[in-house]
Amino acid sequence: MQAEAMEMTTMTGSTSEKRTYSLAVVPGDGIGPEVTGCALAVLDRAQELFGFATEREHIDAGANHYLATGELFAGPIEGRLRGKDAILFGSMGDPSVAPGILERGFILAMRQTFAQAVNLRPVRLYPGVKTPIADLTPERCDMVIVRENTEGAYVGRGSTVHAGTRNAVAIQESINTRAGVERVIEYSFRLAASRRKKLTLCHKTNILVEAGKLWTETMADVAKRYPEVETDYVHVDAMCFHLPISPERFDVVVTDNLFGDIITDLGAVIQGGLGVAASANLNLDGSAPSMFEAIHGSAPDIAGKGFANPAGAVLSLAMCLAHLGEVDAAHAVETAVVSVLGTMEGLSGPAMGGSTDEVGARIVETLEAVVAGTVPLLAGRSVMEGLGAAASH
Ligand code: IPM
Ligand code: MG
Repeated sequence: MQAEAMEMTTMTGSTSEKRTYSLAVVPGDGIGPEVTGCALAVLDRAQELFGFATEREHIDAGANHYLATGELFAGPIEGRLRGKDAILFGSMGDPSVAPGILERGFILAMRQTFAQAVNLRPVRLYPGVKTPIADLTPERCDMVIVRENTEGAYVGRGSTVHAGTRNAVAIQESINTRAGVERVIEYSFRLAASRRKKLTLCHKTNILVEAGKLWTETMADVAKRYPEVETDYVHVDAMCFHLPISPERFDVVVTDNLFGDIITDLGAVIQGGLGVAASANLNLDGSAPSMFEAIHGSAPDIAGKGFANPAGAVLSLAMCLAHLGEVDAAHAVETAVVSVLGTMEGLSGPAMGGSTDEVGARIVETLEAVVAGTVPLLAGRSVMEGLGAAASH
Protein backbone atom coordinates (compact mmCIF):
# COMPACT_ATOMS: atom_id res chain seq x y z
CA MET A 1 0.00 0.00 0.00
CA GLN A 2 2.98 2.29 -0.33
CA ALA A 3 2.88 5.21 -2.74
CA GLU A 4 4.64 4.14 -5.87
CA ALA A 5 7.68 6.33 -6.50
CA MET A 6 8.08 7.58 -10.04
CA GLU A 7 11.52 8.50 -11.21
CA MET A 8 11.67 11.96 -12.71
CA THR A 9 14.68 13.53 -14.28
CA THR A 10 15.16 17.15 -13.33
CA MET A 11 16.68 19.89 -15.48
CA THR A 12 20.01 19.48 -13.76
CA GLY A 13 20.11 15.82 -14.65
CA SER A 14 19.73 14.59 -11.09
CA THR A 15 16.73 12.45 -10.27
CA SER A 16 13.95 13.19 -7.88
CA GLU A 17 10.94 11.15 -6.91
CA LYS A 18 7.42 12.27 -7.53
CA ARG A 19 5.07 10.86 -4.95
CA THR A 20 2.30 8.98 -6.73
CA TYR A 21 -0.82 7.50 -5.15
CA SER A 22 -3.36 5.14 -6.68
CA LEU A 23 -6.92 6.19 -5.96
CA ALA A 24 -10.24 4.58 -6.69
CA VAL A 25 -12.99 7.11 -7.23
CA VAL A 26 -16.55 5.92 -6.54
CA PRO A 27 -18.92 8.86 -7.15
CA GLY A 28 -22.04 6.68 -6.59
CA ASP A 29 -25.59 8.04 -6.50
CA GLY A 30 -27.55 11.22 -5.89
CA ILE A 31 -25.36 14.21 -5.15
CA GLY A 32 -22.28 11.92 -4.92
CA PRO A 33 -21.07 12.59 -8.49
CA GLU A 34 -21.55 16.38 -8.13
CA VAL A 35 -19.58 16.75 -4.91
CA THR A 36 -16.95 14.21 -5.99
CA GLY A 37 -16.40 16.23 -9.17
CA CYS A 38 -15.55 19.25 -7.02
CA ALA A 39 -13.22 17.20 -4.82
CA LEU A 40 -11.36 15.97 -7.92
CA ALA A 41 -11.00 19.51 -9.28
CA VAL A 42 -9.45 20.53 -5.97
CA LEU A 43 -7.22 17.46 -6.06
CA ASP A 44 -6.03 18.35 -9.59
CA ARG A 45 -4.88 21.76 -8.41
CA ALA A 46 -3.45 20.49 -5.10
CA GLN A 47 -1.27 18.02 -7.01
CA GLU A 48 0.17 20.78 -9.18
CA LEU A 49 0.77 23.03 -6.21
CA PHE A 50 2.28 20.40 -3.91
CA GLY A 51 4.16 18.27 -6.43
CA PHE A 52 2.55 14.87 -6.13
CA ALA A 53 0.54 12.77 -8.55
CA THR A 54 -2.41 10.38 -8.47
CA GLU A 55 -3.45 7.53 -10.70
CA ARG A 56 -7.23 7.38 -10.55
CA GLU A 57 -9.57 4.59 -11.48
CA HIS A 58 -13.20 5.55 -11.78
CA ILE A 59 -15.48 2.83 -10.43
CA ASP A 60 -19.00 2.77 -11.79
CA ALA A 61 -21.15 1.58 -8.88
CA GLY A 62 -24.46 2.55 -7.40
CA ALA A 63 -28.15 2.33 -8.21
CA ASN A 64 -27.92 2.55 -12.01
CA HIS A 65 -25.05 0.10 -12.18
CA TYR A 66 -26.82 -2.28 -9.82
CA LEU A 67 -30.12 -2.14 -11.73
CA ALA A 68 -28.29 -2.76 -15.02
CA THR A 69 -25.89 -5.49 -13.84
CA GLY A 70 -27.04 -6.79 -10.43
CA GLU A 71 -23.49 -6.08 -9.25
CA LEU A 72 -22.91 -4.66 -5.78
CA PHE A 73 -19.55 -4.73 -4.06
CA ALA A 74 -18.29 -8.29 -4.29
CA GLY A 75 -16.42 -9.69 -7.27
CA PRO A 76 -14.80 -7.46 -9.87
CA ILE A 77 -15.46 -4.18 -8.02
CA GLU A 78 -13.86 -5.44 -4.81
CA GLY A 79 -10.85 -6.65 -6.78
CA ARG A 80 -10.41 -3.29 -8.50
CA LEU A 81 -10.61 -1.40 -5.19
CA ARG A 82 -8.46 -3.64 -3.03
CA GLY A 83 -4.99 -2.68 -4.22
CA LYS A 84 -5.51 1.10 -4.12
CA ASP A 85 -3.86 3.50 -1.70
CA ALA A 86 -7.24 5.08 -0.92
CA ILE A 87 -10.85 5.29 -2.06
CA LEU A 88 -12.70 8.55 -2.61
CA PHE A 89 -16.36 7.77 -2.18
CA GLY A 90 -19.33 10.04 -3.01
CA SER A 91 -22.51 8.50 -1.66
CA MET A 92 -24.89 5.67 -2.33
CA GLY A 93 -28.62 5.07 -2.04
CA ASP A 94 -31.46 5.80 -4.43
CA PRO A 95 -35.28 5.56 -4.27
CA SER A 96 -35.21 3.22 -7.30
CA VAL A 97 -33.60 0.48 -5.19
CA ALA A 98 -35.21 -0.94 -2.04
CA PRO A 99 -33.74 0.54 1.18
CA GLY A 100 -30.77 -1.40 2.50
CA ILE A 101 -29.64 -3.09 -0.70
CA LEU A 102 -27.06 -0.50 -1.69
CA GLU A 103 -26.33 0.63 1.86
CA ARG A 104 -25.68 -2.87 3.15
CA GLY A 105 -24.48 -4.37 -0.11
CA PHE A 106 -22.00 -1.66 -0.88
CA ILE A 107 -21.15 0.81 1.88
CA LEU A 108 -21.19 -1.65 4.77
CA ALA A 109 -19.59 -4.35 2.63
CA MET A 110 -16.70 -2.01 1.85
CA ARG A 111 -16.26 -1.01 5.49
CA GLN A 112 -16.39 -4.62 6.69
CA THR A 113 -14.49 -6.41 3.91
CA PHE A 114 -11.72 -3.83 3.93
CA ALA A 115 -11.53 -3.89 7.76
CA GLN A 116 -12.11 -0.15 7.97
CA ALA A 117 -12.29 -0.43 11.72
CA VAL A 118 -12.50 3.26 12.51
CA ASN A 119 -14.92 5.83 11.18
CA LEU A 120 -13.28 9.11 12.06
CA ARG A 121 -15.64 12.08 12.14
CA PRO A 122 -14.28 15.45 13.21
CA VAL A 123 -16.76 17.85 14.76
CA ARG A 124 -15.07 21.20 14.56
CA LEU A 125 -16.76 24.55 14.32
CA TYR A 126 -14.43 26.41 11.99
CA PRO A 127 -13.91 30.16 12.44
CA GLY A 128 -16.45 32.18 10.46
CA VAL A 129 -18.78 29.24 9.80
CA LYS A 130 -22.40 29.66 10.85
CA THR A 131 -23.81 27.28 13.44
CA PRO A 132 -27.43 26.98 14.56
CA ILE A 133 -26.25 26.84 18.17
CA ALA A 134 -26.51 30.35 19.61
CA ASP A 135 -23.33 31.69 21.21
CA LEU A 136 -21.19 28.71 20.22
CA THR A 137 -17.63 29.74 19.36
CA PRO A 138 -14.90 27.78 17.52
CA GLU A 139 -12.70 27.53 20.66
CA ARG A 140 -15.49 25.57 22.34
CA CYS A 141 -16.05 23.04 19.57
CA ASP A 142 -13.13 20.95 18.30
CA MET A 143 -13.53 17.24 18.84
CA VAL A 144 -13.25 14.00 16.90
CA ILE A 145 -15.84 11.26 17.14
CA VAL A 146 -14.36 7.82 16.57
CA ARG A 147 -17.15 5.50 15.50
CA GLU A 148 -16.59 1.75 15.54
CA ASN A 149 -17.18 0.87 11.91
CA THR A 150 -17.55 -2.86 11.37
CA GLU A 151 -19.59 -4.37 14.21
CA GLY A 152 -22.52 -3.64 16.53
CA ALA A 153 -25.98 -3.53 14.96
CA TYR A 154 -24.34 -3.05 11.56
CA VAL A 155 -23.37 -6.74 11.28
CA GLY A 156 -26.88 -7.26 9.93
CA ARG A 157 -27.70 -10.34 11.96
CA GLY A 158 -31.20 -11.12 13.04
CA SER A 159 -34.39 -12.85 12.05
CA THR A 160 -38.14 -12.44 11.96
CA VAL A 161 -40.66 -15.11 12.82
CA HIS A 162 -44.31 -14.92 11.81
CA ALA A 163 -43.33 -12.13 9.44
CA GLY A 164 -46.22 -10.10 8.11
CA THR A 165 -48.66 -11.29 10.78
CA ARG A 166 -49.81 -9.73 14.03
CA ASN A 167 -47.60 -12.23 15.82
CA ALA A 168 -44.46 -11.08 14.05
CA VAL A 169 -41.29 -11.05 16.16
CA ALA A 170 -38.20 -9.28 14.86
CA ILE A 171 -34.80 -9.92 16.40
CA GLN A 172 -31.90 -7.65 15.50
CA GLU A 173 -28.55 -8.52 17.00
CA SER A 174 -25.64 -6.29 17.91
CA ILE A 175 -22.29 -8.08 17.88
CA ASN A 176 -19.35 -6.69 19.84
CA THR A 177 -16.02 -8.52 19.84
CA ARG A 178 -13.19 -7.81 22.26
CA ALA A 179 -10.80 -7.52 19.29
CA GLY A 180 -13.04 -5.11 17.40
CA VAL A 181 -13.72 -2.95 20.45
CA GLU A 182 -10.09 -2.96 21.51
CA ARG A 183 -8.72 -1.82 18.15
CA VAL A 184 -11.04 1.18 17.99
CA ILE A 185 -10.38 2.12 21.62
CA GLU A 186 -6.63 1.74 21.17
CA TYR A 187 -6.76 4.01 18.10
CA SER A 188 -8.81 6.55 20.07
CA PHE A 189 -6.27 6.66 22.89
CA ARG A 190 -3.47 7.27 20.38
CA LEU A 191 -5.51 10.04 18.77
CA ALA A 192 -6.32 11.61 22.15
CA ALA A 193 -2.65 11.40 23.17
CA SER A 194 -1.79 13.48 20.07
CA ARG A 195 -4.47 16.08 20.91
CA ARG A 196 -5.85 17.45 24.20
CA LYS A 197 -5.48 14.12 26.00
CA LYS A 198 -9.06 13.39 26.89
CA LEU A 199 -11.05 10.36 25.74
CA THR A 200 -14.77 9.94 26.39
CA LEU A 201 -16.56 6.63 25.97
CA CYS A 202 -20.14 7.06 24.76
CA HIS A 203 -22.47 4.08 25.22
CA LYS A 204 -25.65 2.99 26.99
CA THR A 205 -24.17 0.77 29.67
CA ASN A 206 -27.20 1.08 31.96
CA ILE A 207 -29.40 -0.76 29.44
CA LEU A 208 -27.10 -2.61 27.02
CA VAL A 209 -25.33 -4.25 29.92
CA GLU A 210 -23.53 -7.05 28.06
CA ALA A 211 -22.06 -4.88 25.33
CA GLY A 212 -21.59 -2.05 27.82
CA LYS A 213 -19.49 -4.26 30.09
CA LEU A 214 -17.23 -5.29 27.22
CA TRP A 215 -16.70 -1.67 26.14
CA THR A 216 -16.14 -0.42 29.71
CA GLU A 217 -13.69 -3.18 30.62
CA THR A 218 -11.75 -2.78 27.39
CA MET A 219 -11.58 0.98 27.90
CA ALA A 220 -10.21 0.47 31.43
CA ASP A 221 -7.62 -2.07 30.25
CA VAL A 222 -6.33 0.05 27.38
CA ALA A 223 -6.30 3.16 29.59
CA LYS A 224 -3.49 1.58 31.63
CA ARG A 225 -1.20 1.97 28.60
CA TYR A 226 -2.07 5.69 28.26
CA PRO A 227 -1.80 7.18 31.77
CA GLU A 228 -1.45 10.67 30.26
CA VAL A 229 -4.97 10.51 28.76
CA GLU A 230 -7.90 11.44 31.00
CA THR A 231 -10.98 9.25 30.51
CA ASP A 232 -14.66 10.02 30.85
CA TYR A 233 -17.97 8.24 30.20
CA VAL A 234 -21.27 9.65 28.86
CA HIS A 235 -24.50 7.78 28.05
CA VAL A 236 -25.58 8.25 24.45
CA ASP A 237 -28.83 10.00 25.35
CA ALA A 238 -26.98 12.41 27.62
CA MET A 239 -24.53 12.93 24.75
CA CYS A 240 -27.35 14.44 22.69
CA PHE A 241 -27.80 16.95 25.47
CA HIS A 242 -24.11 17.74 26.03
CA LEU A 243 -22.98 17.91 22.40
CA PRO A 244 -24.82 21.10 21.42
CA ILE A 245 -24.63 22.77 24.84
CA SER A 246 -21.16 21.94 26.12
CA PRO A 247 -19.05 20.59 23.24
CA GLU A 248 -15.92 21.91 24.99
CA ARG A 249 -16.26 18.93 27.30
CA PHE A 250 -15.09 16.63 24.48
CA ASP A 251 -11.77 16.04 22.74
CA VAL A 252 -11.94 12.47 21.38
CA VAL A 253 -15.16 10.46 21.75
CA VAL A 254 -15.19 6.72 21.06
CA THR A 255 -18.47 4.96 20.49
CA ASP A 256 -20.35 1.99 19.08
CA ASN A 257 -21.29 1.87 15.39
CA LEU A 258 -24.98 2.78 15.68
CA PHE A 259 -24.54 5.40 18.41
CA GLY A 260 -21.75 6.89 16.30
CA ASP A 261 -24.00 7.05 13.25
CA ILE A 262 -26.62 8.97 15.20
CA ILE A 263 -24.50 11.38 17.23
CA THR A 264 -22.36 12.35 14.23
CA ASP A 265 -25.42 13.74 12.44
CA LEU A 266 -25.97 15.91 15.50
CA GLY A 267 -22.28 16.79 15.45
CA ALA A 268 -22.59 17.78 11.80
CA VAL A 269 -25.44 20.16 12.58
CA ILE A 270 -23.42 21.81 15.33
CA GLN A 271 -20.53 22.47 12.96
CA GLY A 272 -22.73 24.00 10.28
CA GLY A 273 -24.78 21.20 8.76
CA LEU A 274 -24.52 17.89 6.97
CA GLY A 275 -23.01 19.62 3.93
CA VAL A 276 -19.77 20.40 5.75
CA ALA A 277 -19.12 17.20 7.70
CA ALA A 278 -16.31 14.90 6.55
CA SER A 279 -15.27 11.38 7.44
CA ALA A 280 -12.56 8.78 7.03
CA ASN A 281 -13.16 5.04 7.12
CA LEU A 282 -9.74 3.88 8.23
CA ASN A 283 -8.15 0.50 7.71
CA LEU A 284 -5.58 0.39 10.49
CA ASP A 285 -3.47 -2.60 9.47
CA GLY A 286 -2.66 -1.71 5.86
CA SER A 287 -4.45 -4.83 4.57
CA ALA A 288 -6.86 -2.84 2.38
CA PRO A 289 -7.48 0.78 1.43
CA SER A 290 -9.13 3.39 3.62
CA MET A 291 -12.15 5.25 2.27
CA PHE A 292 -13.03 8.92 2.50
CA GLU A 293 -16.60 10.24 2.24
CA ALA A 294 -18.74 13.18 3.25
CA ILE A 295 -21.26 12.03 5.81
CA HIS A 296 -24.29 13.55 4.07
CA GLY A 297 -25.45 10.59 1.98
CA SER A 298 -26.96 10.73 -1.51
CA ALA A 299 -29.71 13.34 -0.85
CA PRO A 300 -31.81 12.29 -3.89
CA ASP A 301 -34.21 15.20 -3.31
CA ILE A 302 -31.59 17.75 -4.35
CA ALA A 303 -29.54 15.60 -6.75
CA GLY A 304 -28.79 17.25 -10.09
CA LYS A 305 -29.94 20.70 -8.95
CA GLY A 306 -26.48 22.06 -8.27
CA PHE A 307 -27.46 22.85 -4.68
CA ALA A 308 -25.22 20.38 -2.88
CA ASN A 309 -22.50 21.83 -0.70
CA PRO A 310 -19.20 20.23 -1.80
CA ALA A 311 -17.42 21.19 1.45
CA GLY A 312 -17.91 17.82 3.16
CA ALA A 313 -16.51 15.98 0.15
CA VAL A 314 -13.54 18.35 -0.19
CA LEU A 315 -12.78 18.15 3.55
CA SER A 316 -12.91 14.35 3.20
CA LEU A 317 -10.36 14.72 0.40
CA ALA A 318 -8.21 16.71 2.84
CA MET A 319 -8.44 13.81 5.30
CA CYS A 320 -7.42 11.47 2.49
CA LEU A 321 -4.39 13.63 1.70
CA ALA A 322 -3.37 13.68 5.37
CA HIS A 323 -3.73 9.91 5.49
CA LEU A 324 -1.50 9.53 2.42
CA GLY A 325 1.14 11.68 4.12
CA GLU A 326 0.46 14.89 2.13
CA VAL A 327 -0.17 16.82 5.33
CA ASP A 328 0.75 20.26 3.95
CA ALA A 329 -1.64 19.83 1.04
CA ALA A 330 -4.32 18.59 3.46
CA HIS A 331 -3.88 21.64 5.64
CA ALA A 332 -4.05 24.00 2.66
CA VAL A 333 -7.18 22.34 1.27
CA GLU A 334 -8.84 22.44 4.69
CA THR A 335 -7.97 26.14 4.97
CA ALA A 336 -9.38 26.86 1.50
CA VAL A 337 -12.69 25.13 2.28
CA VAL A 338 -13.05 26.90 5.59
CA SER A 339 -12.37 30.36 4.17
CA VAL A 340 -14.96 29.81 1.44
CA LEU A 341 -17.50 28.52 3.98
CA GLY A 342 -16.90 31.65 6.04
CA THR A 343 -18.09 33.82 3.13
CA MET A 344 -21.32 31.91 2.49
CA GLU A 345 -24.75 33.17 3.60
CA GLY A 346 -26.09 29.66 4.02
CA LEU A 347 -24.39 26.29 3.96
CA SER A 348 -26.84 24.35 1.81
CA GLY A 349 -29.30 24.75 -1.02
CA PRO A 350 -29.84 28.02 -2.89
CA ALA A 351 -28.69 29.95 0.21
CA MET A 352 -25.11 28.92 -0.62
CA GLY A 353 -25.05 31.86 -3.03
CA GLY A 354 -23.63 29.76 -5.85
CA SER A 355 -23.93 26.34 -7.41
CA THR A 356 -21.96 23.28 -6.30
CA ASP A 357 -19.46 23.86 -9.11
CA GLU A 358 -19.16 27.57 -8.36
CA VAL A 359 -18.42 26.86 -4.70
CA GLY A 360 -15.91 24.24 -5.88
CA ALA A 361 -14.23 26.78 -8.17
CA ARG A 362 -13.99 29.24 -5.28
CA ILE A 363 -12.31 26.58 -3.18
CA VAL A 364 -9.73 26.01 -5.96
CA GLU A 365 -9.05 29.77 -6.25
CA THR A 366 -8.71 30.06 -2.50
CA LEU A 367 -6.33 27.10 -2.43
CA GLU A 368 -4.10 29.03 -4.83
CA ALA A 369 -4.29 32.06 -2.53
CA VAL A 370 -3.38 29.91 0.47
CA VAL A 371 -0.31 28.58 -1.31
CA ALA A 372 0.59 32.10 -2.47
CA GLY A 373 0.42 33.21 1.16
CA THR A 374 -2.38 35.75 0.71
CA VAL A 375 -4.82 33.67 2.77
CA PRO A 376 -3.33 32.59 6.12
CA LEU A 377 -3.23 28.92 7.00
CA LEU A 378 -5.88 27.82 9.45
CA ALA A 379 -4.55 27.66 12.98
CA GLY A 380 -4.66 24.35 14.77
CA ARG A 381 -4.75 21.52 12.30
CA SER A 382 -5.35 18.95 14.97
CA VAL A 383 -7.40 16.55 12.89
CA MET A 384 -5.03 16.52 9.96
CA GLU A 385 -2.00 16.00 12.16
CA GLY A 386 -3.77 13.60 14.47
CA LEU A 387 -4.69 11.37 11.57
CA GLY A 388 -1.06 10.69 10.90
CA ALA A 389 -0.10 10.46 14.57
CA ALA A 390 -2.81 7.97 15.48
CA ALA A 391 -2.28 5.80 12.41
CA SER A 392 1.37 5.13 13.19
CA HIS A 393 2.04 2.76 16.06
C1 IPM B 1 -23.33 7.15 7.48
C2 IPM B 1 -24.60 6.75 6.78
C3 IPM B 1 -24.57 5.25 6.53
C4 IPM B 1 -24.49 4.55 7.88
C5 IPM B 1 -25.73 4.72 5.70
C6 IPM B 1 -25.90 5.46 4.40
C7 IPM B 1 -25.60 3.24 5.46
O1 IPM B 1 -25.70 7.14 7.51
O2 IPM B 1 -22.24 6.92 6.92
O3 IPM B 1 -23.42 7.72 8.56
O4 IPM B 1 -25.52 4.26 8.50
O5 IPM B 1 -23.38 4.28 8.32
MG1 MG C 1 -25.23 8.33 9.19
